[in-house]
Amino acid sequence: SDQPLVLGIETSCDETGVGIVHGERLLVDAVASSVDEHARFGGVVPEVASRAHLEAMVPTIERACADAGVSLRDLDAISVTSGPGLAGALMVGVASAKALALSLGIPLYGVNHLASHVAVDIVEHGPLPEPTMAMLVSGGHSSLLLVPDVTHDIRSLGATIDDAAGEAFDKVARVLGLPFPGGPHIDRAAADGQITIDFPRGLTSGRDMERHRFDFSFSGLKTAVARWVETRRVDGEDVPVADVAASFQEAVVDVLTRKAVLACREQGVDALQIGGGVAANSRLRAMAQARCDDAGLLLRVPRPGLCTDNGAMVASLGAQMLLKGRPASALDLPADSSMPV
Ligand code: KG4
Ligand code: ZN
Repeated sequence: SDQPLVLGIETSCDETGVGIVHGERLLVDAVASSVDEHARFGGVVPEVASRAHLEAMVPTIERACADAGVSLRDLDAISVTSGPGLAGALMVGVASAKALALSLGIPLYGVNHLASHVAVDIVEHGPLPEPTMAMLVSGGHSSLLLVPDVTHDIRSLGATIDDAAGEAFDKVARVLGLPFPGGPHIDRAAADGQITIDFPRGLTSGRDMERHRFDFSFSGLKTAVARWVETRRVDGEDVPVADVAASFQEAVVDVLTRKAVLACREQGVDALQIGGGVAANSRLRAMAQARCDDAGLLLRVPRPGLCTDNGAMVASLGAQMLLKGRPASALDLPADSSMPV
């Protein structure tokens, strides 16, 4: 058929992702993660991530091709995350992608990591409504993006002014003695808890809201949780982990969904897409669905495996770039660790 076969490489953080798409159809999503190697440090260690990418790259490309039943020679283009992310980690992906594109004689597309988180939904739910409102919530980002065209026009409406949403989950998990990365553990713990504590909702009222309408702040919330837990411990009382998890999660999810729906309303956008690792959160999915239903908005959230970092999202955006005739990247494409959207 005339649909392009595109291989995408993602190495911005701790997942070595290789995905292959055929136009808007996902063929394979292969991921090798070094998350276990970082767990004992309580966070991602850049040098460890870079070395793990180097070791995983060729086997992951081979596995992706084998599982998709395609040969490298069949590919029409290579796409790769060129930023933002960890500099050394990005460099492994960018160098690998250049080598493939050059040796196969096919175009190379360097793509933005945030845009890829939005574009992955195309292989899940079909073409994106234009414009779409996208909320990206992960360990490194919490952003509200107005997306008229995912291949070249994304406008940031707001972002976190301190910790990312996933970072807050990870830090609160640590306070509660839960393993890294903490998001899934808080999600599970919260399922057995009650929302009994009214934790602060940052930047949602008064002058803060006026000045930071679509920004987020989670560091005050994290501190409030830590202080609440510490007070209990000092008093020799048991910490009700499930209730704290549920109450903290509710505060994060309430702010995220409230601002996302408000942004849709004010910008006249009728579709909301949520991506990033925190989009796997069960409470976020439920509250976003309820609030979108109330507001008459279409909600699109990819399956959890496509919300966390992966290669399919890069391949999906690469295919869109090719289909929309965007210019390919030069072979001296740099890795840009602080690339804006
Ligand atoms: O997108 P991602 O895999 O990597 C980047 O940060 O780019 O996101 C990882 C983040 C971690 O902070 C993790 O704790 C969080 O996503 N996360 C969750 C859940 N699953 C993963 N947070 C809340 N609830 C979850 N179920
Ligand atoms: Zn990400």
